[in-house]
Amino acid sequence: MKKIGVLTSGGDAPGMNAAVRAAVRCGIDRGMEVYGIKRGYEGLLDGEIVNMNWQSVGDILQRGGTILRTARSSRFMEDEWVQHGAKMLETFGIEGLIVIGGDGSFRGGAELAKKGISVMGVPGTIDNDLAYTDYTIGFDTAVNTILGMITNIRDTSSAHERTTIVEVMGRRCGDLALFAGLAGGADVTLVPEMECDLSEICRRVLEGQASGKLHSLIVMAEGFNMDAAELAKTLEEMTGREARTVVPGYIQRGGSPTEKDRRLATVMAAKAVELLYNDSDSKAIGVSAGELIEMDLVEALQVKPVFRADLYELANILGKGK
Ligand code: F6P
Repeated sequence: MKKIGVLTSGGDAPGMNAAVRAAVRCGIDRGMEVYGIKRGYEGLLDGEIVNMNWQSVGDILQRGGTILRTARSSRFMEDEWVQHGAKMLETFGIEGLIVIGGDGSFRGGAELAKKGISVMGVPGTIDNDLAYTDYTIGFDTAVNTILGMITNIRDTSSAHERTTIVEVMGRRCGDLALFAGLAGGADVTLVPEMECDLSEICRRVLEGQASGKLHSLIVMAEGFNMDAAELAKTLEEMTGREARTVVPGYIQRGGSPTEKDRRLATVMAAKAVELLYNDSDSKAIGVSAGELIEMDLVEALQVKPVFRADLYELANILGKGK
C-alpha cells in the first residue's frame, strides 16, 4: 500500500492529535504517502484531502482537540454517500484509511470497508463506550479533568455543607461517572447500567449527613434516568440541605492529553499504519489487559459491553456514611 488517509470523526477527544501525529510519521517512515482528511467523513465527501508531511504534525502531541477537525456526518449514513466517499478515496489513489473516532465513526468505516477500502479503526472518544477495547483515547484525560473539578467542588461543598450533583458526559455509558466517582470519593455514583431509585439516593445522603459528613457528592452519568436539577430539588426537600448541580459539559472534552492517552494514541495509530502497510483486512485496534489487540472491524462493533459492576459496588461501599 502506497497511499493512506487519516481522519478524525465524531466528538473530539484529547489524544486524537497524538494519534494523527503517529499515523502521519509512521506512514512516512514506511515510505507511504499520508493524506489528512479534514472534518471527518464530511471532508471526505467534499474532497478536503491534503498531503501531510513530517512537520505538518509538529507540536501537536500535547494539544487537545484535533488539527484535522471533526464532524458528525449525517450524509455518511446513506449508502450513496458512502459510495461517493469510496470514489473520492479512489480519485486520490488512497487505498487504506485510518479512522480515529467512536462507534458511529467505526460504523461509517465498516460501510467503507464493504466498498473495498482497508479501514483501521483507532478508538478515540472520551466515553469509553467501545466494548472491544478496555480503553479509548481521551477517556483517561476526561476522567482526570473531572477529578480536578470534583476536588474543587469538595472544598466549597464542605464549607457550605451542601450536596452537589456533578453530571458528567458519556452518552449511554457510565464509565466516566464510574471512574471519576471511584477515584473522587463520591458518596453516590449513578450510571445508566445500574438502577438506583430516588429513595435510595436520599437514604444514602441522609446516612452520610447523620454520620457527620460535611457535604454530599453525587457523580451522575448524563445517561442516568434522572434530571440533575430535579434530583437536587428533591434532595433539598428531603434532606434539608442545600443542593447544587454542576455540569462540566465540554470542559471534559478539551485539554492536554495525559501520558496514558498520548501513549495509547501513539501505539494504536502506529499499529494501524503497520497493518495497512501489510495490506491487512479492516481492523479495530484496541487494548486488552495492557496489551495491544486487533480485531475484525465488524466483529469489534458487535462485542457486548460488560459493565464493571465490581468497581461500582466498591465505589458505593466506600461512599457510605457510617
Ligand atoms: O461522544 C462524546 C460526547 O462528548 C458525549 O459524551 C456527549 O453525549 C456527546 O459527545 C455530545 O455531543 P455534541 O458534541 O454533539 O454535543
